[in-house]
Amino acid sequence: RPKVTVPKLQSMREAGEKIVMLTAYDASFASLSDRAGVDVLLIGDSLGNVLQGHSTTLPVTLDDIAYHTACVARAQPRALVVADLPFGTYGTATQAFESAVKVMRAGAQMVKIEGGEWLAETVRFLVERSVPVCAHIGLTPQSVHAFGGFKVQGRSEAGAAQLVRDSRAVQDAGAQLIVLEAIPSAVAAGVTNELRIPTIGIGAGIGCSGQVLVLHDMLGIFPGKPPRFVKNFMEGAPNIQAAVEAYVKAVREGSFPGPEHEF
Ligand code: KIV
Ligand code: NA
Repeated sequence: RPKVTVPKLQSMREAGEKIVMLTAYDASFASLSDRAGVDVLLIGDSLGNVLQGHSTTLPVTLDDIAYHTACVARAQPRALVVADLPFGTYGTATQAFESAVKVMRAGAQMVKIEGGEWLAETVRFLVERSVPVCAHIGLTPQSVHAFGGFKVQGRSEAGAAQLVRDSRAVQDAGAQLIVLEAIPSAVAAGVTNELRIPTIGIGAGIGCSGQVLVLHDMLGIFPGKPPRFVKNFMEGAPNIQAAVEAYVKAVREGSFPGPEHEF
């Protein structure tokens, strides 16, 4: 299959084809997920949780992300390679650009940053300088202390309206993709309908243009109780390759997420 590009994601949205995104942190899993048909590999700062054992993503450094991005890129996936910019590395537009250059030199083809309206100027600055941008709104885990916990966002009418403004602002600034995390499915469907660019949901219901999960969550290997929106695809699968293939199939045909995974 041909290389997945940023314009390809836009044409998938326009054709109504679901986009499948999954985190990857190393070459072996990147290769496996790529063979399973995943469209977008995310070097998420969730590596702070699932690889490093931290309780938040805040300790993750730009060096950590660059290292894991280089590991994933060596698999030469057909999937688009997207890297998170970690906490504290995009406080200004200039800092964001310098951080993006570092992860793009390591092999990222797009960067993901957490924020909405306040971040629009930074999104524009990056896009103008040839850095493709995925925005991430809703339950943005780098804001855990500002939120006072990992809480579903956009439940109130005002909160939902803010998410619509945030998504419009980053789209207008040039973001080509947006992750919606832990928001009511009706709000996510509304945001998706308002936008032209593809939306990728995690705990945001079936009405998004695609879905993302953390690899260790969907394989059921992260200790503790998983969030409501996680499905363990190893259940009923003979091996890891089959589990990732089952995830790809479920997202493509719209059988994941189900109502039991929604807010
Ligand atoms: O870090 C991560 O894995 C993420 C996804 C869950 C969207 O940001
Ligand atoms: Na992240």
